[in-house]
Amino acid sequence: MGLFTKKPMELLMAEAGDSEKGLKRTLSAGALVALGIGAIIGAGLFVRTAAAAAQNAGPSVTIGFIIAAIGCALAGLCYAELSSSIPISGSAYTYTYATMGELLAWVIGWDLVLEYAVGAATVGIAWSEYLNNLLVQVLHMKPIAYEWCHSPFEKSVADAAGVVHTGIINLPALSIVTLLSLLLIKGTQESAFVNGLIVITKVSIVVLIIVFGWGFIQESNHTPYIPAPSVYTDSQGINHSYGGILGVLGAAGVVFFAFIGFDAVSTAAQETKNPKKAMPIGILGSLAVCTVLYILFAHVLTGIAPVDFFRNDGKEASVVAAINTFMPGYQWLGKLVTVAILAGFSSVILVMLLGQSRVFYSMSKDGLLPKAFSDVHPKYKTPYKANLIILILVGAFAAFVPGDVVGDMTSIGTLFAFILVCAAVIILRKTDPDLPRQFKTPLVPLVPILGIIVCAAMIYGLGWTNWARLIGWLAIGFIIYFGYSKKRSHLK
Ligand code: ALA
Repeated sequence: MGLFTKKPMELLMAEAGDSEKGLKRTLSAGALVALGIGAIIGAGLFVRTAAAAAQNAGPSVTIGFIIAAIGCALAGLCYAELSSSIPISGSAYTYTYATMGELLAWVIGWDLVLEYAVGAATVGIAWSEYLNNLLVQVLHMKPIAYEWCHSPFEKSVADAAGVVHTGIINLPALSIVTLLSLLLIKGTQESAFVNGLIVITKVSIVVLIIVFGWGFIQESNHTPYIPAPSVYTDSQGINHSYGGILGVLGAAGVVFFAFIGFDAVSTAAQETKNPKKAMPIGILGSLAVCTVLYILFAHVLTGIAPVDFFRNDGKEASVVAAINTFMPGYQWLGKLVTVAILAGFSSVILVMLLGQSRVFYSMSKDGLLPKAFSDVHPKYKTPYKANLIILILVGAFAAFVPGDVVGDMTSIGTLFAFILVCAAVIILRKTDPDLPRQFKTPLVPLVPILGIIVCAAMIYGLGWTNWARLIGWLAIGFIIYFGYSKKRSHLK
């Protein structure tokens, strides 16, 4: 059998029907929407919004959110069709296996490691930064020493006394990843319950900021809404196109990170009750809720503080700083936001770890990865060995790689996956027109083609450093595929 052998649809369906032998079906449509929101609202909203306003678009970052949401919705419609017709763990990987053959399926499975595992590490690193914010601002304690909460590859810093500090290991990031991996091993239902609590907390916080902040919006901060085109040079000397259409497009690329995660819902297909109906609701529902919240949040945030404030004040804590500075009497909200951000980041990491283990589970079932990745725990019914191996992988990234490097790799990996998913919808309509589809992507091939174009444009915007990283990552994947997986594929 060749590189382009496709996994027969009947085999996929039989595996889906067989699932009582493996993972438990416990998740409802509502739980999926919560899972999606849990994965979506995180570092993207609370960190990237202010950064995009400062560097790219000012108040028109809201339009950037709309463009990124359009790209995600187009891809989301494609995800929904595939996950409702192929309701199996593994998400884009499984869809590609059924439509474009084994080699591309491997490529996408390997690429999804960037989205889920590297994404989890990225948010773990952001979590570590906010932990220090909590210790100092809320608990009035000393921060964790720089050495123990930064990667050794991070730039060294000098303190007020002139002593230079260099990172050794990011222990808080490693700890949160470890804790959440253990929670996942305990069981998906329990994890979904904890996730539900966190989702309620962070949605409430976003709503509170919108409601209380609305009264502090200054018209002058929103004028002009789309700044005139210019160039902004940030503190590291990097030039950004600010204002105009280019600024809005740049902002779309930056805030795209805030939407990553809604597709993670599709990786839980095998644990979902009535997945054909619940999947589209879960994917599109969580995307819709977040888009509305994001636009309102960005409108309020850029309304209460001027752009210069976001350029000059602490980037990671911009939201809290803006509340403390421009909303007198609402210091309590600033503290609450810090706590909610920590909880919010945790649920993002949780869903990403879940997604990664389910992708590895599917690849292992197909023989492309060792059997250990699909061994299910006798009592908890979770792929516990996969979770442990992923813990080592994600833990290494979280502990030793700087946040900005892993962040951009997450974005480009995700956009690449979106493109293949859009293509898979077009191909599957041709190769398997009679497959029962509970949800059909409207206007095929227009919607998938537009999805491919918008995602490709965002990849273009991420620049050549990131293209090179993606190509390097895929090259490592090819070595593993041709050295190990190809010979062991069960389809052979
Ligand atoms: N969307 C996720 C976040 O904003 C990745 O953190």
